[in-house]
Amino acid sequence: MTPNALLSSVQVGRYTLPNRLVMAPLTRNRAGAGNTPRELNATYYAQRASAGLIITEATQISPQGVGYPATPGIHSAEQVEGWKLVTQAVHDRGGHIFLQLWHVGRISHPDLQPDGALPVAPSAIAPQGEASTYEGQKPFVTPRALETEEIPGIVEQYRQAAKNALEAGFDGVEVHGANGYLLDQFLRDGSNQRTDQYGGSIENRARLLLEVIDAVVAVWGSDRVGLRLSPSGTFNSMSDSNPQALFTYVAKELNQRNLAYLHLIEPREDNGAPEGQDLSSHFFRSIYNGTIIGAGGYDRELAEETIAQGDADLIAFGRWYISNPDLAERFAKNAPLNEYDRSTFYGGDETGYTDYPTLELQSA
Ligand SMILES: Cc1cc2nc3c(=O)[nH]c(=O)nc-3n(C[C@H](O)[C@H](O)[C@H](O)COP(=O)(O)O)c2cc1C
Repeated sequence: MTPNALLSSVQVGRYTLPNRLVMAPLTRNRAGAGNTPRELNATYYAQRASAGLIITEATQISPQGVGYPATPGIHSAEQVEGWKLVTQAVHDRGGHIFLQLWHVGRISHPDLQPDGALPVAPSAIAPQGEASTYEGQKPFVTPRALETEEIPGIVEQYRQAAKNALEAGFDGVEVHGANGYLLDQFLRDGSNQRTDQYGGSIENRARLLLEVIDAVVAVWGSDRVGLRLSPSGTFNSMSDSNPQALFTYVAKELNQRNLAYLHLIEPREDNGAPEGQDLSSHFFRSIYNGTIIGAGGYDRELAEETIAQGDADLIAFGRWYISNPDLAERFAKNAPLNEYDRSTFYGGDETGYTDYPTLELQSA
């Protein structure tokens, strides 16, 4: 095994990155009024700029795409200005940052929707569990199935958000196709029971995702667009009768599109993969031709091993990046890591957000 493979440079689409550590997208519910990024968020991201690549927290492409309190958007002029604070601060420290484009679909609530409307989804099937609203947790409602005629409008929301991200100074965008949000809801047959050209066959269920990718690529160029998928994920009531066939089709379609990367959340202990269906990065490596980012439960050792085996090119760290702004330096020096505090993951102020110390601070 090559030691320090994680700390070697790598080409990702248009960019040469100094190391293979990715800061995973992390929702932290600390946007300002109007779901607008602010200085506090710029400080947080700038602290983590030594990651080879930062992927921002999931960011709403439209008011309809909102599913949680205090999550940022990229659909208003104020939000674009707010994000400029972030991109500028990260670039000042030599970092690279992609924006994660998000529409939650049915993982919302009328309390969070324009005019108290029902959330939209491929089919009128409610997820299990509760929505997070400004008044606390409320049971999910049954969403409204999108009309076929409305789908071009969804693609348009992505296109406009991609344009806004360009204006805000990002280095690229990641389409959020994971974790049971709108695009994942269309992909999987547990949530998509449509009978039009966006439901039924695998080709039909993948159609919206691929139309969105093509719209975003038209804005950014394929070498600055990534996609995140969670083929084995069951979060947000996701299920599929044959995920390996579904995601194999998607991977093969992506091969023709030459994206900057494919970002995979992988199965670990609570493996959502059906018997005999391999959905690991190792499997995707055998069918996908481009750069792969692995994510999900990685520590340094497993990350080095996975890169050395050739199953992924970069590794995204989520929780470790919450508590270790200088994760790359810590790995370089074999330094111990700060533990993370789950109680401050979602919402709040600088506590548990911008106050995790760097090594430098700890030794001072
Ligand atoms: C607090 C928190 C917020 C998250 N928010 C997002 C998000 O906005 N978008 C996303 O794709 N994944 C999100 N995830 C999943 C992470 O990106 C990552 O896949 C997950 O934490 C597993 O990686 P880890 O074991 O390194 O933490 C979130 C995870 C956590 C813990």
